[in-house]
Amino acid sequence: MLPSLRVGIAGLGTVGASVVKLLDRQAEALASRIGRGISVVGVSARDRAKERGVDFGRFAWFDDPVALARAEEVDLFVELIGGEAGVALAAVEAALCAGKSVVTANKALLANHGMRLAQLAEEKNAALAFEASVAGGIPIVKTLREGLAGNSIERVYGILNGTCNYILTRMELEGLSFEQCLREAQSLGYAEADPTFDIGGFDTAHKLAILTSLAFGTVIDPASIAIEGIASISLADLEAAAELGYRVKLLGVAQRTPEGIEQRVHPTMVEKSSSIAQVMGVTNAVTIDADAVHELTLVGPGAGGEATASAIVADLADIARGVRSAPFGLPVASLTKAPQAPMQLHKGGYYIRLSVFDRPGAAAAIATRMAERQISLESIVQRRRPGAHGAAAGGNIEPSGAVPVILITYATHEKTIRQALEAVVADGFLAEKPQVIRIERE
Ligand code: NAP
Ligand code: HSE
Repeated sequence: MLPSLRVGIAGLGTVGASVVKLLDRQAEALASRIGRGISVVGVSARDRAKERGVDFGRFAWFDDPVALARAEEVDLFVELIGGEAGVALAAVEAALCAGKSVVTANKALLANHGMRLAQLAEEKNAALAFEASVAGGIPIVKTLREGLAGNSIERVYGILNGTCNYILTRMELEGLSFEQCLREAQSLGYAEADPTFDIGGFDTAHKLAILTSLAFGTVIDPASIAIEGIASISLADLEAAAELGYRVKLLGVAQRTPEGIEQRVHPTMVEKSSSIAQVMGVTNAVTIDADAVHELTLVGPGAGGEATASAIVADLADIARGVRSAPFGLPVASLTKAPQAPMQLHKGGYYIRLSVFDRPGAAAAIATRMAERQISLESIVQRRRPGAHGAAAGGNIEPSGAVPVILITYATHEKTIRQALEAVVADGFLAEKPQVIRIERE
């Protein structure tokens, strides 16, 4: 048997502690599958005294993750600290510069520095592995890089953030407030240290940037991603969606278009009967449209210690076996810089919730503004005022005295819908800014 792979782990929080537990639990099985052991030899975190539910006293302790990354007794460095720069970046660079392979779950780091780090790994003949960085326990990196090597990919999209899907699910099914659902996701260890990354859509964008590179053979380009988070989604939207046969999901979508590659992250209406609409709670799903395999969907736990540890250990096992792949599927010099398709040219259906003063001519004016731009409406729903024609008092009236009007459009361009809504706003019938949610079809 080969000597054990000696591993140093920096970051002993939700993921780091789970990795050590999983390696303990699966030690024998892993050694027989791989043909050698995986031994943790050193660890690092901020607070040595913190109770973590694992005995860390058996490993060498390093206050400084960079020193751990460089330590002679460490063959491979696992970065589970988080953050797009700072000590996480310094430690990963130190490990790669020393010719040591790196495993990380840090999508922010990869989205911002992935190309440079992959280049460094190539130069030093080291592995840079990051299965855990996208969609938690789902092996999507390996699937795109190896499993679909014979395909030309048209679109990759999915639910890539467990925290947001957990929040939207709990709000819809239990009628709970956004804030309460976020607190729950944090206490379950799903959220980022700064949950703005989750709810603002930035975490999904980091993951999408990685998937886009793997799917299309392109240089990572996070600045090209149009990003909207879920903070503006209200119970009113979730209820209206349900009534109209839709569900709201935060999706990351990357697709080829005639103008280039469109990359976008936003709350999305998906048909309630679609498979992606069935993905609830912390579960993630990634669908790939490709020429040979046609459609492939992977579904699984998108966040949480155990699921993420599963992906980390898979990377450790590959490296221990001597499996090496170019981190993004191609040598960095062969990745192309694809043109970015502007969001203004995005084509799709739209859900629009308007808060309309209940005055004569309001509905007609809205319909006219849509018709002027050849926007066809699939449905238009106007709520009654309380007391009007027997409607229940308090039912759908808004504090401003406005009533909700909900439109679903057929496919049109983003630019067209934005222009139509500018005209509707200028007509002066609206009590607040329109809520616009794009519709995605399977
Ligand atoms: P976490 O629970 O906040 O753990 C972070 C760890 O990093 C803690 O142990 C902390 O030490 C340590 N740390 C922070 N600053 C440090 C420093 N300057 N020096 C040494 N150690 C430091 O985070 P997590 O949820 O495990 O996430 C870790 C990484 O995995 C992040 O990149 C995250 O995006 C990614 N990820 C997380 C999940 C998930 O479900 N949680 C899933 C996929 C990917 P102390 O414990 O002493 O404070
Ligand atoms: N905060 C992330 C999420 C962790 O909720 O999906 C997994 O990457």
